[in-house]
Amino acid sequence: MCGIVAYTGAQEAYPILLRGLKRVEYRGYDSCGVALPHSERVQVYKDLGAVDTLKGTPDGIQGNTGIAHTRWATVGEPSQANAHPHSDCTRRIAIVHNGDIDNFLDLKQELQDQGHSFSSQTDSEVIAHLIEREYDGDLKAAVTKATARLEGSYAIAVVAAGFPGVVVMRKDSPLVLGLGNGENLAASDAPALLERTKRVVYLEDGDLAVLRPESVELWRNGAQVELTVQEVAWNVTELDRAGYPHFMLKEIHEQPRVIRDTLAGRISLTDPRATLPIAAHKAPSRVIFIGCGTSYHAALTGQYFFSQVSPLPVNAYVASEFDPAPGTLRDTWVVALSQSGETADTINAIRKARTAGAWTVAVTNVMSSSITRATDDVFYMQAGPEVSVAATKTFMAQLVAVYLLAMHLAPRSTALAELVGELRAMPSKVQRLINAESQIKALAAKLTRYDHMFLIARGINVPMALEGALKLKEVAYLHAEGFAAGELKHGPFALLGLNTPVIAMAPHDGQYPRMLTAIKEIKARGAPVTAIAFQDDTELERFVDDVLHIPVAHPLFAPWLNTVALQLLSYSIAELRGLPIDKPRHLAKSVTVF
Ligand code: AGP
Repeated sequence: MCGIVAYTGAQEAYPILLRGLKRVEYRGYDSCGVALPHSERVQVYKDLGAVDTLKGTPDGIQGNTGIAHTRWATVGEPSQANAHPHSDCTRRIAIVHNGDIDNFLDLKQELQDQGHSFSSQTDSEVIAHLIEREYDGDLKAAVTKATARLEGSYAIAVVAAGFPGVVVMRKDSPLVLGLGNGENLAASDAPALLERTKRVVYLEDGDLAVLRPESVELWRNGAQVELTVQEVAWNVTELDRAGYPHFMLKEIHEQPRVIRDTLAGRISLTDPRATLPIAAHKAPSRVIFIGCGTSYHAALTGQYFFSQVSPLPVNAYVASEFDPAPGTLRDTWVVALSQSGETADTINAIRKARTAGAWTVAVTNVMSSSITRATDDVFYMQAGPEVSVAATKTFMAQLVAVYLLAMHLAPRSTALAELVGELRAMPSKVQRLINAESQIKALAAKLTRYDHMFLIARGINVPMALEGALKLKEVAYLHAEGFAAGELKHGPFALLGLNTPVIAMAPHDGQYPRMLTAIKEIKARGAPVTAIAFQDDTELERFVDDVLHIPVAHPLFAPWLNTVALQLLSYSIAELRGLPIDKPRHLAKSVTVF
């Protein structure tokens, strides 16, 4: 993954690069660094740790051009030597790289045989030496020749001593240019540019750009092309914590607004079939949802919901496991869910879907992200920037999107009209649950002492058991497993006991009696049970240790409330444990590697 930023202009580059780097730190944060070119050498500052470690760099750093990097290790452990930028042998060239170079071992051997000496274990360093080999004063030409040797994915930014600008290039890793006033920038993602400019150019695969303070030149397939300038819809103020202690909490609290905005203009009381922001396309005979991690859980919820409202066959797949045979998906819509729009596994699965003959739609939160170029159409969620590594509000927006999609394809019915009413009521129900946060904090105080936990549900709430467990693992570092309630007795029962609390989602729906049976069976084995139940449930408290109440809703909407309750629970346990909630260890928000 990793985040890169480049600047060239009239201002001091170092503080601008550091501020930009903070905005892409969600992409990785095990080490970081900056390089500033001077007349004879490129000065490199890098260290182990997140971007704030660079704040301590000694005074006297000067330069109006530079490149910067925040790393999520793929090749080579997190260390100062493996941190970017990487330099050539002469220290006249430095590069930052996001991606993976598949043939780096062969290239490294070839370069070593020619006398180049390496300072790191990374794949990225070969890029600096390849450019060094080709460089005769024309940096653009050297980058073009060097990248022709690379196999794999890369977004790179390159500086050279004596060159008053930056050369950037991308292939299968994101890169966006920011056009400023007497200054120009590049970054892995638009938020890194927002403090300086909202005017951006999203690069295509194979694009190479030369940035100077007063100009940006772009080459595509060897020919110079005009810039296609777009305006970023997000504001820099949305990237702040707005008084919340963590972005995760802020983003959880934003969910009522996110539901409203994603629904806006899509539903009406006169026609229960939702209107979609995608071009009319031949109705499918089958629908497939794909995604990874949290996005897969939204896909799975889409499968459950779809099968309740539409007779069409529907499936959900983990994107990395999706491998349809060529030609087998004609008349199928493949709906790819990815908040970042950059997940390599999901983009790869889309390519396979298209080869199999499917029509593909991306559901994403990020304008012009790679996924939007890989699919036939795009449904943008309206979640606003999500900074915390743990997906919360974008998961909610995905739920809204998959429900709308199902309600678009479903036959008209009175049941569908009832769902429209509930969709409109959900923002205030989610708000009521958020307002009752104190009951969740009290529960967190009880559960924080445990090391293991099970979450169970039936039907459409099963994906929430999986998602709740993912959130507990991700931010609270608590080993949690989500199960379909019926499955627990087929093995996991062996682990139940006094120290394995179980959270049971038991909204009043057709599955309720069976959930009650499962809860009794678990209690009989000594495990503490917390039920998440509707506000008006008076029965469950007789059988469980605790009840976490959620507002009464149509059973098909219980997942929306269950997930908010579990997000708040995970957050509260992580807070009690004093963990780095927004940046959990070993993770990154965009997973652009396989
Ligand atoms: C969510 O909390 C996780 N950080 C992770 O599972 C994430 O959902 C997954 O990597 C997919 O990301 P995407 O939605 O950007 O494709």
